Amino acid sequence: MKKKNCLLFVFLSLLALTLIPASLPAAEIGKGVQITYLGHSAFKLVSPQGVVILLDPFLKNNPKTPAALKEIDRADLILVTHGHGDHLGDTLSIAQKTNASVVAIAELSGYLTKKGIKNAVRMNKGGTYTAKGIRITMVNALHSSSITEGDQVIYAGDPAGFVIRFENGFSVYHAGDTAVFSDMKIIGDLYKPDLAFLPIGSHFTMDPAEAAYAGKLIQPKYVVPMHYGTWPLLTGTAEEFAQLLKDQPRIKLIIMAPGQTIQ
Ligand code: NI
Ligand code: MN
Repeated sequence: MKKKNCLLFVFLSLLALTLIPASLPAAEIGKGVQITYLGHSAFKLVSPQGVVILLDPFLKNNPKTPAALKEIDRADLILVTHGHGDHLGDTLSIAQKTNASVVAIAELSGYLTKKGIKNAVRMNKGGTYTAKGIRITMVNALHSSSITEGDQVIYAGDPAGFVIRFENGFSVYHAGDTAVFSDMKIIGDLYKPDLAFLPIGSHFTMDPAEAAYAGKLIQPKYVVPMHYGTWPLLTGTAEEFAQLLKDQPRIKLIIMAPGQTIQ
């Protein structure tokens, strides 16, 4: 290349670089789906078309949710894995404010309808609900589920997990609260999740060793730990999880800080 052409090439290359959005290199993870960690098991996913999905939106009383993210102004779908307070969280108030549809297992959905939620979607395990081109499949979770109101304990159906498949092919598995179970292999085989949100805190769910084993069964490209460190009881750590995932080099660990967004 002549010196003049070379300079032109460098200039055009620099121009091209400035025209590419800064977020592009990381866009490999979600293929354009924005993923924000809201602390504990709460996440916000925004599809390339702008559909806002909240998962287990426990925010107001969540010690890990950054103050600026405690209020939700816009949501299209709220997916609730089970009735426990640290997952059902602020679902009622957010749904009332945003008119979002709430997707939950039949009994929990029935409870929400009784509480005045107009757009409660009743579904059950193995079923897929498609909304705005996004396929939401309810899968198993090994846990319990109930809602405590005063001295009353209300049955909330079975606990669940969700697999969300976006129009662009990106697929996410949110395991909810769960022990490890061998059918996680079926979730991996059938839905091939690109990313899995797995609880690692122990006491109520898997610990890092069990979650690493779950990773082996699911084989996601990326794994994000959740449900740890929120309270002293949840002792599993991301560092321990990182150590235990070392023998599975195909799975990339992404430790998200509450408030962080990846895409
Ligand atoms: Ni729970
Ligand atoms: Mn929980």
